[in-house]
This record gives sequence, C-alpha cells and structure tokens, in this order.
Amino acid sequence: MPALISKALAKIKTEVLVVPVCKDSDMHEHSGISSIINRIKGLKEFTGERDEELILYKPAEVDATRVMLMGLGAPDRINQETLRVLAGRAVNKCIATSLSEITFLVPVNKKLTIGAASVLEGLMEGAYLANHRFYAYKNIKKQRPLQKIRFSVAPGAVKKFSRLAARVETVCKSTILARNWVNTPSNDKKPAQFARAVVGLAKKENLKTRVLGLKELRQKGFGAMLAVAAGSRSEPRLVVLDYNPKNATDTITLVGKGVTFDSGGLNLKPSKTLHRMKADMAGAAAVAATLVSVSKLRPKVRVVGIMPLVENMLSATATRPGDIIKSYADKTVEIGNTDAEGRLILIDAIAYAVKTYKPQILIDMATLTGACVTALGEKIAGLFTFDDRLAQKIMQSGEKTRERCWRMPLPEDYKDLLKSDLADINNMPSTRAGAAITAALFLSEFTGNTRWAHIDIAGPANSKNDHAYCPSGATGFGVRLLCDFLMAEG
Ligand code: BES
Ligand code: MN
Ligand code: ZN
Repeated sequence: MPALISKALAKIKTEVLVVPVCKDSDMHEHSGISSIINRIKGLKEFTGERDEELILYKPAEVDATRVMLMGLGAPDRINQETLRVLAGRAVNKCIATSLSEITFLVPVNKKLTIGAASVLEGLMEGAYLANHRFYAYKNIKKQRPLQKIRFSVAPGAVKKFSRLAARVETVCKSTILARNWVNTPSNDKKPAQFARAVVGLAKKENLKTRVLGLKELRQKGFGAMLAVAAGSRSEPRLVVLDYNPKNATDTITLVGKGVTFDSGGLNLKPSKTLHRMKADMAGAAAVAATLVSVSKLRPKVRVVGIMPLVENMLSATATRPGDIIKSYADKTVEIGNTDAEGRLILIDAIAYAVKTYKPQILIDMATLTGACVTALGEKIAGLFTFDDRLAQKIMQSGEKTRERCWRMPLPEDYKDLLKSDLADINNMPSTRAGAAITAALFLSEFTGNTRWAHIDIAGPANSKNDHAYCPSGATGFGVRLLCDFLMAEG
C-alpha cells in the first residue's frame, strides 16, 4: 500500500531511496541530496537524462542502503507518463533484486510544467501498477511484489494529498483486479464462476447486484446471447452491478464483453491465435473492476455495469453459420459467422440496458475485432461514437490516464455491408475491409437514441512484452480510463 511520509531526510530508513533527477536542475529541497548531486556532477554515466540510473551505496547524507538516482530529462518536457515510467522502473528493479520496500523522494522543482498533485499521482500510479505479478498458478514464485512503497513529501503535503493517495490506490487496485481476471485461464473462469467472483466482490462494496441465469435469459428473450452460449456446456450469465447514490439524476451504463473463451465456434479460429482468446472477457473485467472502484470513489451519477458472460464453443448444440435468431430487441440476426460473437452478446446487453435503465450515456467496452488491432496497434483503443462531446471527454480521459483512445469514423453508408437477405441484419459484414467499423455500426443499431460510445480494446487489453508499469499479459486497460471519465462526469 503506498504511504505518504514527511520526515527529515536523514531519518528516512529504507533499502532504496529513489531520487528523481532532471537535467541541469536540482529537484529537491534537501541539502543532503544537493550534496550527493554535486558530488556526481560531471560524471559521464549520469547527467539526469531520461532513463539513466545510478545507484550509490550508503552515502553519508542519508540513512538509506541505496540511493537510486533516476534521470527524468529536461524539466519542461516531463509529463505524468514520464513519472509513471520512472516509478515503475524503480519498483521492477527492486523486485528483481528481491528487495521488500522502496521510498520515493517526491520532486518539488518549480521548473516542472505539471503541478505537485500530478507529480505525486504519476509516481504513485507507476509504482503501484508495477508492483504486481500474476503467479497464482506457479509453485515457485520467482519474484515477489514489494511489501512497502512510501513517498516522502514536504510537511503539510501528507494531509493535503491523503485523499489523492487513497483514490490512486483504489483505482490501481481495481486495475490489478481486472488484470488478474483476464490472466486467469478459461478453465477457471467459466461464466458462472466469473459471475460469482464478480458478485462476491461487488457485494463487499455494497453494490446492488443481479445475475440472470439460463432460465431467466430464455424467459426474457436474450436470443443473441443464447445463440453464442449454445455450443458450450457452461451456462451463460448476465451480471448487473448497480451503484445508485442518493440524489443521482443521471445514469451511465457500462457494458463489457465477457466471452470467457472465444474458440470462434463452428467458424473455428486458427490455432495460432486460439490460446489468446481467454482474454476475450477483458471488457467485462474492466467494467466489473470499475464498479468496484466506483463504490469507493462515489461519483454523483448512478453507474450500472452490465456484463454478458458466455463461452463461445463448438459442439453438436452449437449455433451454425446461416442460423437466424431473434435478439432481445426483437430484431432478427442472421449468423453469418459464429466468430463474430462479441457483437451478439453486446446487442442483447445494450438493448437490455437501454430498456431497463434508460441511461443518459451508454459506453461499451469490448475486445471486439482483430481489425482494430491492425488499425491502431496494441496500445491504442478504437473509439466509436456519433457524439462529438462524448468523444472529446473520453479522449481527454484517455490522454490523462495514458489509456489512449483514437476516434474512428462511423459512416452510415457502411451499414449496407451488414444487410441480410433473410433477416433484419447479418452479424458478418460482406467484406472484411473496415471490420472494426462495421462491428461498431452493428452495435449502433441497438442503442436507440441513447448517447453511446463503443471502445474496442482488442489491442491494448493485452501486452506481449513487459512494460515499465505492467508486466506482460493482461493490462487492465479501461479501468483507469472509465474511472477518470465517471469522476469528470460527476
Ligand atoms: N475476440 C475476437 C476479436 C479479437 C481478435 C480480440 C484478436 C483480440 C485479438 C472477436 O470475437 C472476433 O473473432 N472478431 C472477428 C470478427 C470477424 C469474424 C468479422 C475478427 O476480428 O476477425
Ligand atoms: Mn470471435
Ligand atoms: Zn471474441
């Protein structure tokens, strides 16, 4: 748990004291630190350039076993991400060295273009998010997260920033929760199991919860969702988490795609990409984890999270290409391809959300298309909406949290590509070109007049490589973005 402290430098006893240093400028108001920095002035290996590191052992000025000087570059070019990355690198280095704690000396330089709260927030996020390993299935755990992360700030700042620190901890904890869910293998997160885990946590946070099982989904006519679930022995679930504060006037619904494994169904995926499809519930994980945070962040708006959970499998009972089903909204859908299953579960959840909660804003988050990964790569999500103001707000939250979104077009004439000869609409477009767009257009047919945005996170939900503050695997993308958006909304 990150903790704020304010002590005389000489009294900070720690295994590692991290001292961010920028180019040509002292960033700390401690004579001890100035003395250390003066001593190394002129060294070629450390000039304060970004990504440089220099470890000093037991310098006399402090009570730290190691002082880790870390370069930030020119002060006017430092942003929050620079600080996240610095803190993440420091934590990873300590974990790799089997240390158990770390203390950051928070810089106070007046030449920085970002404020003190942003500096602290960036360092805390980077440190907290980096301090995570998914070793639930390893007998031998090679690395252990640090037990203690502290931030040394000026007197007065401990109290001033205590709420900020609590908020950062809440949101980062949820991000890690989402990562753990996504990293969990599909044999341990069948829809019923995943639903139970989500509801268990939500109840602890005093959220209202509701789970629709197979019987209710049939009774209520969730035909599109049931068509996806038809090939699996694992029953589907629709999970609803409701944060409903007193005096809330507006409702925001978040819908998350929860395919606990996407084999593609009878349109089976090639084996090269198959094993990655355990992560096809990353949208649902992000929405669930966001609601867990929301109960602590307490925005003024009502927030309802809706997660359709299914396993897309193939068997004698599986839905066939060419089948026609009736969706929750009564529109009929020709199943042109059983691998375009995400949009099927989403339209039922979206139609249910619109009818039941009449939200002012609806945002869905989904690992929806490989085409979106092709278009924007593995770090940027695709944002689709007709609403300019909503787009602006989501992009802004994306920049702030570094969970970046890029707006994509929704050309009405592309809807022709979804025409079906026999049903109201086809889930498979007549061309693969523009598949991320046609997927979003398919969803748009079920949103009514609701202000709606769709965020395709097929790229950024996972990462093949380790990053400064996220180990390889699930990233928890979307939690910080949605939390920031909701707090800005009220
Ligand atoms: N879950 C996949 C999309 C996906 C691909 C997520 C790669 C993460 C990484 C989705 O259900 C899917 O299969 N989409 C198809 C749609 C096509 C059949 C129109 C795709 O992208 O190929
Ligand atoms: Mn699919
Ligand atoms: Zn899928």
